[in-house]
Formats: sequence, C-alpha cells, structure tokens
Amino acid sequence: MTIGIFDSGVGGLTVLKSLVEILPDESFIYLGDTARYPYGGKTPTTLARYAKESVNFLLKEGCSTLVVACNTLSSTVLDIIEQQSNCPVIGTIMPTAELILNDSSLTDIGIIGTRATVKSSAYNKAILHAKPNLKLRTVACPLFVPLVEEGITTGKIVDEVIDLYLKDWVADPPDALILGCTHYPLLTTSLYNYFSGKTKIINTAEAIAKKVANSTKISQVTDSSKQIKYFVTDSPEQFKIIGEIIMKVKDIKVEQVTLS
Ligand code: DGL
Repeated sequence: MTIGIFDSGVGGLTVLKSLVEILPDESFIYLGDTARYPYGGKTPTTLARYAKESVNFLLKEGCSTLVVACNTLSSTVLDIIEQQSNCPVIGTIMPTAELILNDSSLTDIGIIGTRATVKSSAYNKAILHAKPNLKLRTVACPLFVPLVEEGITTGKIVDEVIDLYLKDWVADPPDALILGCTHYPLLTTSLYNYFSGKTKIINTAEAIAKKVANSTKISQVTDSSKQIKYFVTDSPEQFKIIGEIIMKVKDIKVEQVTLS
C-alpha cells in the first residue's frame, strides 16, 4: 500500500515522520506544494483548487490512502477532497480534537493555527460539539510557518514572535495547546518553554499518524520494495535541507513536479 501525504511545504513532514515510525512497512509519497506556500492566508476557493491538483497527482502516483497533513486544508476543504478521492482520506482536525476530548483533565484549551484555520473555527466546532463547557481560546500565528520553512525553530527571534502572538496568555496559560498547523510541532520546545512547562503541548502529528494506522489495512509483512518519495512544486533545495532535519535521514531525493 502507498500512502499519499500532502501539505503546502515541510510542515506535513512532521506527520510523515510519525507515520513512518508507526507504519514502518508502508510506502509513502509526500507532496509539498512549495510553489504556492503559504496556504494559511488563502480563501477556501483557492485552497480547493490547490488541493484538487495535489490529490490528482497523488492518486495518479498510485496512492490508496490520502493524509491531508495540513490543518488549513483539513479545516476548510476536507469535504471536497473526500468527494474527489475514491479512497480513505484522513485530515488533521478530528484526530487532534479527540486527544482533547479523551483527556478529562483538560478544561482550558489554547488553539493556534493559520488565519484560514482559525477563521474556519473547525477545532472549536469539533470540540464544543462534544464538550460545550470547555474553555477555548484561539490565535492565528501566521509568522510561525515562514520561520519553520527557514529552519528557525529556537532562539531570540522565535521567542519574540511567540510573544507577539501569545503574550495575552502567558500570565494565565491554557492547560493544553493545540498546534493547529503541521509546521508548529517544530516549535514545540520554544512554546513549551514560553509557558514555563505549565501547558501540555498536543502532539498533533502523532495523533494523525495513529488515526491513519487505525483506518487503513496495514501491511502484515515487511515489504523490501517499500520506499518514501518526496515531491515539491518548486525548487527542492530548501525543502531538502529542512526535510533531512525533520526526517532525521541524510540525502533524501526530492523531485520537482508541476501540478495540473
Ligand atoms: N502546514 C499547513 C497547516 O497545517 C499549512 C501552513 C501554510 O502553508 O500556511 O495549516
């Protein structure tokens, strides 16, 4: 089985990393739409067009399960992606919301994401539908994505950008923080330290990977032909540098493709 994973750039690799750990015998195709990144400020109409082209590409490559490793797409156009795909489609919102819903110790939840994700209220709806009494607070953090794409995940600049967006929460931190963008797990250490370790950082990548493992037929045998292929829609150079750091492997091959 080949699992297709897509995002605007390197963020979805946080999900791929967890997937490879949980499903070591599967093949994966990763697509980063780097030519059109960032997705976070785009409208649902534009995002639907981008998603359609990514899905076309991954289905043509033979993927039989699709992982929308992007909160922006998952929160705005998941239904359109599902309609277009004749295979299982897993998005980010429900697996992450379920982590909150299954932990009764969490009552005050911070949600951070791109502008499009925050505007969609997808997390709020998923959580409040089941637990209307939880306190939710949300903030869009658009500068986090370019920092991660540049490989800047700790240090003074990161701390200042975190403070820019989250200073209103620091005196009274939430119990848990949903990293509602797949780029944000790279900032976990900085965010954890910003809240002095008082806030539980919700590992969205792992939750999504577990959902995929539960919803798909897992290979029973070790497949010697299994492989991970990486595709981007613009220059592979920067993706390769950050990709090797995230995946903790050397010399990944990244191919540039044009979507249609
Ligand atoms: N990593 C994506 C997300 O989860 C997209 C971020 C962006 O391109 O703005 O939302």
